[in-house]
Amino acid sequence: MRTIPVEFSRHADARADLEARGYTKRPLQFDRDLASILGRMAFGSWDLPADEYYKTGERYRSFDQYRAAVTETGVEVSHLGEVRPYFQDVSHNPELGGVQRKYAPLAAHLSTDVGIYKLISQQIARLPLSSVGQIYQVNLHVMRYCALPGRRCETSPPGYHKDGERFISVVLLTYCGADGGVVYIADNEQSEMDNFLMREMGENYIIDDEQVYHKLSPVEVLDSNSFAFRDILLFDFIPVQN
Ligand SMILES: [Fe+2]
Repeated sequence: MRTIPVEFSRHADARADLEARGYTKRPLQFDRDLASILGRMAFGSWDLPADEYYKTGERYRSFDQYRAAVTETGVEVSHLGEVRPYFQDVSHNPELGGVQRKYAPLAAHLSTDVGIYKLISQQIARLPLSSVGQIYQVNLHVMRYCALPGRRCETSPPGYHKDGERFISVVLLTYCGADGGVVYIADNEQSEMDNFLMREMGENYIIDDEQVYHKLSPVEVLDSNSFAFRDILLFDFIPVQN
């Protein structure tokens, strides 16, 4: 377990965004540890195992779990060594839900790096529920969407949906040779509120799954490229009753 000091007041704007409209996309506050782990995660994405549950395109992913607790001065984060299968209800994911999906964890030098603990702590500082004593289960999915000519890569499920986890944060690692991958956010009537394309390492957004719907346009190759990819870190922050 590591205790990461966090100044919660420095994240008040993002927190206010989430409270007011259900999403935020403000820049992360970088230090050397955070910058370094994003670079190493991006490099490590070349070693991600294939997502065997996704048959219609090429996708790679890993899965790790953490426990995080908000304290007076920061966030205590522990990496859970034994990863349980990832389960989404069919109602949230008609394509891949309803089965226990087993994904391999990251190498420990990545999953337990101080930069990841800092990233988790910073995102938790932005969540409206993060008062002292709040505990979260944190899922980390590292995902590569890979596109080839005539073979695009979709998110699961395609189209507006909710993931069924309370808060979801996506941090871009790499966007290379690609077209698409545009994020759309809509209110609970599925009327579009925003859309944006993340291109730069560290660009990120957080959504409150209860307040908004989201979707991603398919990742495709740009022009005459023969290969394209989009690598992300996706965190689920699930409040745990304490
Ligand atoms: Fe989703």
